[in-house]
Amino acid sequence: MLSELTPQPADKILELMQLYRDDPREGKVDLGVGVYKDADGRTPVMRAVKAAERRLVETQETKAYTGLAGDPAFTEAMRRLVLGDAVEAGRVAVAATPGGTGAIRQGLELMRYADKDATIWISSPTWPNHLTIVKYLGIPMREYRYFDGESRGVDFAGMMEDLKGVKAGDLVLLHGCCHNPTGANLTVEEWASVAALLEATGAVPFIDIAYQGFGDGLDADVEGVRLLAGRLPEMVLAASCSKNFGVYRERTGVLMTVARNGADRDSAQATLAFLNRQNYSFPPDHGARVVQMILDDDDLRADWQEELEDVRLGMLDLRQQLAAELRQRTNSDRFDFVAQHRGMFSRLGCSPEQVMALRKDHGIYMVGDSRINIAGLNARTVPVLAEALVAVGA
Ligand code: LMR
Repeated sequence: MLSELTPQPADKILELMQLYRDDPREGKVDLGVGVYKDADGRTPVMRAVKAAERRLVETQETKAYTGLAGDPAFTEAMRRLVLGDAVEAGRVAVAATPGGTGAIRQGLELMRYADKDATIWISSPTWPNHLTIVKYLGIPMREYRYFDGESRGVDFAGMMEDLKGVKAGDLVLLHGCCHNPTGANLTVEEWASVAALLEATGAVPFIDIAYQGFGDGLDADVEGVRLLAGRLPEMVLAASCSKNFGVYRERTGVLMTVARNGADRDSAQATLAFLNRQNYSFPPDHGARVVQMILDDDDLRADWQEELEDVRLGMLDLRQQLAAELRQRTNSDRFDFVAQHRGMFSRLGCSPEQVMALRKDHGIYMVGDSRINIAGLNARTVPVLAEALVAVGA
């Protein structure tokens, strides 16, 4: 049996992580995997997470199983964090999942279980793991234009043109905020146009939101998502806590569905629990409980929000520094888009050869499509990157 296996190509982002680790050069710069790093290159455990973990160790009396859909206090806290008052709680089903990837996987399984012929529409480009999971599950897929390679903004006209092809019951995968890999995002007006298109066609949005709080703020980042939730009869939403709570390895996330009515919501909730049972039974609890303790405690929550805001503003500052350095060195505003992009990533628009030269000649690691992790920079390395970009002719 095992000799029948064909090894799949390695995930490009994770492969890059290893190449970086293996590079012995001093002064190498890691702009690869989407993990937040402070100015010293550390990924700290957030203060509120540490405090909640201490409290949890003191007070937790059992490690017995939770519910199949996870701890209801966690799923409720996440519903409020993401959807707020956009839609009545009685229409929302939520289940805890192992991280955002687990939520995406479960959401796609739910979609396939409900209608195996439905097509999922995915932005071009997108996070590579979206494509591989969809392919692995054998779900019909179409791509829609998203990124304008010239302006490095959203090609909204192209996107809407392509999405005219959606049919009732299709799903449209949208990044809730902080688009990965491009950093280019929809305006609220554009979200409203997408809502109108989905309303008119009867297609269902599948939101992936992994960076709430990293763009324009915790509430601002979900304005588009809430607009869709408030207007459309149905929605599927995968949310990750990996980045905004910094609990990457705890695998903490949720899958939510918004249904037309309470009866549909109950069926969806039962299906989410069923799908969890088929795949891993009970979802991981440690990260979920820590997140819930933070969200439900005024002091912990205030401290978390303050630290998250510092992280967000720090990344914005790095964006501005990089855009300014590049403006000066190229004597042009070609790279001003870096300051306009939001979230952890920007796609710079370098060629594969330039990306390779940056790695080989300058020890600067970015994903092959020239996606950079802004948080991988600091005041020292911003000019280093700017200079290297000019040197490779970007
Ligand atoms: C990324 O895009 O770098 C992150 O979401 C990490 C990952 O799992 O790929």
